[in-house]
Amino acid sequence: MTRPFLFGTNFKMNQTPAESADFYARLAAQVEPQPDVQLFVIPPFTSLSAVTELARQDDRGIWIGAQNMHWAAEGAYTGEISATMLRALGVDLVVLGHAERRRDFHESDPDLNRKVLAALESGLRVLLAVGESAEERQFGVSAETVLRQLKIDLHGVRAEQLPMVQIAYEPVWSIGAGGTPASPQDVEPMAALIRGAMSELFGAAGAAVPILYGGSVDPGNAASFTALEDIDGLFVGRAAWTVEGFLATYRAGLAGKLASRPMG
Ligand code: PGA
Repeated sequence: MTRPFLFGTNFKMNQTPAESADFYARLAAQVEPQPDVQLFVIPPFTSLSAVTELARQDDRGIWIGAQNMHWAAEGAYTGEISATMLRALGVDLVVLGHAERRRDFHESDPDLNRKVLAALESGLRVLLAVGESAEERQFGVSAETVLRQLKIDLHGVRAEQLPMVQIAYEPVWSIGAGGTPASPQDVEPMAALIRGAMSELFGAAGAAVPILYGGSVDPGNAASFTALEDIDGLFVGRAAWTVEGFLATYRAGLAGKLASRPMG
């Protein structure tokens, strides 16, 4: 089975509902649904309703994602949002474990595990972000860090739930304005490690889980990552925050994948 090519962006704490709706509408008008290609956009919570409403009117198959959620279905958790609420809006996907949430909001792996299980139970797709910090890399524990994240965050997930899971490998040191892009030589062994661990933990269903790379991806370097055997897509921040940038980075990434592994 060929793994699909995935490409999407996370707007982080940017954009009003009107701005996200405008982005989505212009993107949807310019991309044709394609077999084996899956696009996604992840606006802030306050934009989700505007974007899912557009998707309801004209569904182009683009997954709409949320940037976080709570593990409980409801309750006394001021400021939090549940999977049930996201599903009610028509949200497809949730990112869990983004480096900024782990680092700045102290999200622990056991808490992420509760979120992963709750998201899957409610029917949300999960994009689980893993990756080592600069310090962990310097001490030579990148592999241990990522394995620990995978093992805890996915603990108790059933093999039949894995078609709803995708993993983003995003080394913390490569993300955002202060980040340095990883090289394909950095990414290749980590992607292979993730593939191997998923296979060991879950068998064939684990080996089939798509692995994305993220961290300072742009149209110039996108193909160098997607040419890697174990990289099935890209998870992009800044470079894809305009529709033009999204399309340029997507097309470059897809070209890299097609050159290395003809699909379909
Ligand atoms: P960046 O963000 O592409 O702006 O480095 C990536 C991410 O946070 O996933």
